[in-house]
Amino acid sequence: MRTTDAVWLAPGEPQEIQSDLVSRFHEEYGRPASGTWFAPGRANLNGEHIDFHAGRCLPMALTHGTYVAAAPREDGLLRMRTLDASLDDGVTTVFADQIGPQAKPAADDALKDDSSGHWSQYVHGVLWSLRELGASHPDFHVTEGFGADILVVSTLPIGGGLSSSAALECASILAFVALGTPLGLQNPLDDLNAALTREHRKQLAAACVRAEVEVVGAGTGGLDQTAAMRARAGKVLSLDCRDFSVQPLDIGCILRGYRLIAVDTGQAHRLADGQFSDRRAEAEAAAQLLGFDRLRDALPEKPRKADVLHVLEEFDRLAEQLESVAGRDIEACRRRLRHALTEMVRSEKLHHLLSGEAYGVRHITSTVGDILTAGHMSMRDDAEVSFTVADLVVETALAQGAEGARLIGGGFGGSVLLLIAPAGVPRLTAALEKISRNIRLIDVAPSSAAHAL
Ligand code: GLA
Repeated sequence: MRTTDAVWLAPGEPQEIQSDLVSRFHEEYGRPASGTWFAPGRANLNGEHIDFHAGRCLPMALTHGTYVAAAPREDGLLRMRTLDASLDDGVTTVFADQIGPQAKPAADDALKDDSSGHWSQYVHGVLWSLRELGASHPDFHVTEGFGADILVVSTLPIGGGLSSSAALECASILAFVALGTPLGLQNPLDDLNAALTREHRKQLAAACVRAEVEVVGAGTGGLDQTAAMRARAGKVLSLDCRDFSVQPLDIGCILRGYRLIAVDTGQAHRLADGQFSDRRAEAEAAAQLLGFDRLRDALPEKPRKADVLHVLEEFDRLAEQLESVAGRDIEACRRRLRHALTEMVRSEKLHHLLSGEAYGVRHITSTVGDILTAGHMSMRDDAEVSFTVADLVVETALAQGAEGARLIGGGFGGSVLLLIAPAGVPRLTAALEKISRNIRLIDVAPSSAAHAL
């Protein structure tokens, strides 16, 4: 079977990427970088569009991610540049004390007027939210007049649904912690990795969420930032979004004799777009009709399919006399509700399978594969966030013998995750290459969380 290596997107060698980045930093800013920080992208086994409903999500960190080289400044200026060719428009400069929600960041002429949605918002957004966090947490108190020079490079496809935004936020916030807070200044460079407690990481993930919601204006629910900040090598993180507690679960049982592959469809997804928030608002309208602040509470602790049917019947009963639910189409709200509830059941099932609680499941890989595929059908038919190329990739993967495949991330573009035996990979890649020349494959080897290099 003839396949090309070109379809594989390599994660690169971290030391080489770092050394190239710091020499580019020196060229750009005329002084050495003080350090480099990395945060990974993520792929999810299950749990899409339910983090903001307090459901359970099952992310893994990728070896691909975002690198940030930085050096501190004392004049309160933040200067940022990315080496990603599709985003690079030179150095963007903002005054660190004039950033935050709604604020048009006062800036020098390098920041263009049409800066809404500019990649640099993810960076200055987290400096703002770190300062907010530091107001009540002395470890994170940002030094007066702190600013920084920043250079960014990523091995993730931008907009590939693999959390390139959260990786940028998490790598940037670590740089700011390292260079501008007591926690960083007392624990220079990679000592920071040991100094960051689980609680610190949880607080920093929450700060990144604040930046994305309040500064960028995207409706993220915290899954991506938690994965980037708290993932564990070799594990899938079982994240309970009711309280953001995490339990790392071994996935050796799935990967024995199989591979997880993320397929970047080449169709970029944009989270700040209105469609994502519409889907979310429709599910929230259904929750409101049912009388729940968060949809997870509509199901019991260990939910089953019958519980989903029961909630849907209740929804039908309540909606019977209505023309709309909070001004939104009733059938659309019902489909979003059904996606959220069935996705929650799938997540709980996977959690029990992987935590060894479900004894007697003999063919764990095919069960996990079936859950992946059921998740895709739900993303396609109920959440309605899939798109032609993703559906084609899923169909092709299943036809080529994958155990299961699904769209991951926010949808409307992005990536598909699939589970397949290594022997089937050459045929699979050949078939995927025929769908689109823009398709790229990423080997998913569950990796560790954001860290200083
Ligand atoms: C985006 C959001 C996450 C989550 C996923 C869908 O990545 O940032 O919070 O909602 O979509 O699961």
